[in-house]
Amino acid sequence: MRVTVIGAGYVGTVTGACLAYLGHRVTCADVDAAKVAGFQRGQMPIYEPHLPELLADAARRGGIDFTTDFAPAAAQSDVVFIAVGTPPLPNGEANLSYLEAAARNIGASMDAVRFRVVVNKSTVPVGSANLVDTLVREGIREAHPGNKQGISFGVASNPEFLREGSAIADSLYPDRIVLGAEEDRTMETLRALYQPLIEQKFDAPAYLPRPASLARVPLVTTTLTSAEMIKYAANTFLAMKIGFANEIANLCEKVGADATEVMAGIGLDSRIGRQFLNAGLGWGGSCFGKDIQSLLQTAAEYGYQARLLEASLAVNRAQRQIVIQKLQEKLLILKGRTIALLGLAFKPDTDDLRDAPSLQIAERLLQLGARVKAYDPIAMPACRAQNPELKIQYCDSALDAVAQADAAVLVTEWAEFAQLDLPQMARCMQQPVLIDGRNFFEPEAARRAGFDYTGIGRCARARPAPVPQT
Ligand SMILES: NC(=O)c1ccc[n+]([C@@H]2O[C@H](COP(=O)([O-])OP(=O)(O)OC[C@H]3O[C@@H](n4cnc5c(N)ncnc54)[C@H](O)[C@@H]3O)[C@@H](O)[C@H]2O)c1
Repeated sequence: MRVTVIGAGYVGTVTGACLAYLGHRVTCADVDAAKVAGFQRGQMPIYEPHLPELLADAARRGGIDFTTDFAPAAAQSDVVFIAVGTPPLPNGEANLSYLEAAARNIGASMDAVRFRVVVNKSTVPVGSANLVDTLVREGIREAHPGNKQGISFGVASNPEFLREGSAIADSLYPDRIVLGAEEDRTMETLRALYQPLIEQKFDAPAYLPRPASLARVPLVTTTLTSAEMIKYAANTFLAMKIGFANEIANLCEKVGADATEVMAGIGLDSRIGRQFLNAGLGWGGSCFGKDIQSLLQTAAEYGYQARLLEASLAVNRAQRQIVIQKLQEKLLILKGRTIALLGLAFKPDTDDLRDAPSLQIAERLLQLGARVKAYDPIAMPACRAQNPELKIQYCDSALDAVAQADAAVLVTEWAEFAQLDLPQMARCMQQPVLIDGRNFFEPEAARRAGFDYTGIGRCARARPAPVPQT
């Protein structure tokens, strides 16, 4: 099929590349000329593992190109995806201006040559598909007054569940595909588009082999509204699960239990599951906070108070301050101290800093009079460019960051931090205080290395020695 994806960000680019990998002919369009020029030159404006390889394969298979002028491609397309950003406004509402502009432009680019499906992949407040439908119609009316040509289209919702850092595997081997539409023709078009993915009838890329257990991807077909709600329900649940782990971890600290043991113990319950139960310094990223706020906004529109969602936000906000409290407990005075942050990205394997805990922690430390040094394998250029007001001293290595520091905080659990020479690190610090914001290190190993180690919800007491077997 011929596909246009509007918005060449994390979601749009990966979606476009995967669809082209499956054999569709894809154009990715973005208003950001610098981003488009980067992709055209083969330089990646975003960091996502395997994206360069996938784009090269996609170009050879179905074909993919990048443009700022989406109208010619959209006019030739059977399916047009909207994957623009929907960031939060100051009041928590989703900013739909990018979506609205895209929908109107799609309408304006249409003609009667073919039936087209406009698919909303952006995360949008429940009911936005109706808005897209109206805006596409308005775009058609403005470009073709009277629509005498009989232009026809359908609107669908196809929420995206990819995780940055593993976005390509999540897109090629998803847990499920959710399609919301009201008419059969729209649903059938999308079913056909996704058929190779649903049946897993494509050669897996060498760099991302297909999971052995995956034979078929479940397809969930729903109404438009249910599809939109599924996305919010999934994200708010995941955020709540992390918040729950953090709340229990905080209680563990008080009673002397170990949160990692507790989470292992409850995660084996198949009704609960092990994933997203890692206590730490709170979730971040472009989605959870914005999606909870957006769902709260929807709840408020209907006069409903969603207490669990409110609590989720509050627990996470408080959790980010826990690092500061732990530093104050260890160092007493933060003024004039040097704190090293290991990791800046909101999670490993991405350069995305949207709502990253590191930013709030750095900002608070600077307010409290501390000096902040930081090292991140990928996100430092983005952090420097996006946050010029944060007077962070960026370092070339983790060792460089902790040198002469009074404390180190593990903020992002990048795999390379597992290779750090902990004794060497501890030796080069002013004070070997380590706050492990992701429970990444083994407490005993860190202590043996000379660190005064503190995790999140980890019991400070030594375990009893095993009883010798006679
Ligand atoms: N990033 C994720 O992990 C993730 C996961 C699932 C869902 N989502 C949702 O997907 C959507 C996109 O997220 P993202 O992270 O890819 O955003 P992003 O900010 O990385 O990319 C959005 C892109 O849209 C472009 N854009 C804005 N208006 C445009 C227009 N009128 N025409 C063409 N391009 C336009 C921007 O220039 C930008 O490059 C959001 O609604 C987000 O909530 C994101």
